[in-house]
Amino acid sequence: MISRFPVFFLVLLSTVVFPWLFFLFKGEQQLSVLESASLEQETYLYDRVHDKSYNTPGDYVAAVSATGGDIAKAEVEAASAIKPWEVKNNTRAKARIKLLSLKRNVEGEPVHPVWKGGNILSGKRVYQAQGCFHCHTQQVRQKEFGVDIARGWGQRQSVARDYIYDSPVLLGISRVGPDLANVGTRMDAAALHKHIYRPPHGSNMPAYPFLYKVREIRGASSAKAIHFKEGEFGAPEEGFEVVPKPEAEYMVSYLLNLKQDYELPESRFYLEEDTADSAESGKATVDGNAGAKESHE
Ligand code: HEC
Repeated sequence: MISRFPVFFLVLLSTVVFPWLFFLFKGEQQLSVLESASLEQETYLYDRVHDKSYNTPGDYVAAVSATGGDIAKAEVEAASAIKPWEVKNNTRAKARIKLLSLKRNVEGEPVHPVWKGGNILSGKRVYQAQGCFHCHTQQVRQKEFGVDIARGWGQRQSVARDYIYDSPVLLGISRVGPDLANVGTRMDAAALHKHIYRPPHGSNMPAYPFLYKVREIRGASSAKAIHFKEGEFGAPEEGFEVVPKPEAEYMVSYLLNLKQDYELPESRFYLEEDTADSAESGKATVDGNAGAKESHE
């Protein structure tokens, strides 16, 4: 009996573990050949040798023939150009071949989303540092999943492509405050500054006065100072002004650029009549957002 034990063990391995390993690697393999179709944004042919890019393979061939190059060879090159994700899998062998990115957006439509850097990116870091994502999400749910659309938080649902350049993605997990995926379409810079400097009466949102300087106006007032109306909530004393620090300015340019106001092939705007039916219930549940809803329309 004891001498048979290894045989039993081998049989067990071959029947249970090996197929399992096979499926594991099969899955891995499939993953590595998956074409990242919907995420590719541009269409161009990139020539590594001369560090130039061409809008279409045809443009590349034309450029080669214009400089007296070999057209037939250029055509072969254009046809055999590889996609960037393939380069990742096989860097050394393919690094010298022409690189082709495929456009998967609908023909004739602008390419979205676009990458944003500079102040907007700095602003995102401030947003992260201040932990705004603890209370705010940045994701509009589809109409059937809630009242986001009825509340005026967006014209369409958010999809993966919206976050293609976003790292880390700040989807958020809890909605103590309204969703900010489209805050740039419903609030302007002044309103945002006022909200961050001193959220309205009764708000659950903390104030961030340390991102602003309250200073005495000596001579001319600062061009960047927030304009408060006479006696408005949060307005400084007579003779003083509230000036955003760079951090606040960056964050506001980030917030102003939070807008999914473009259509994607996989997510189109909802039609007016689709959103109208649930609009009333949406308004009733979120009173704090009623003003935003108006300005959005
Ligand atoms: C403790 C939770 C909390 C945190 C943290 C928080 N907020 Fe809020 N926020 C809210 C709540 C609640 C509201 C809705 C009430 C109101 O209008 O103030 C709100 C509203 C807003 C609005 C108005 C949105 C609209 O559609 O009317 C903006 C803009 C905003 N927050 C930005 C920020 C930013 C930027 C930060 C980080 C610096 C932040 N919030 C941090 C809770 C929070």
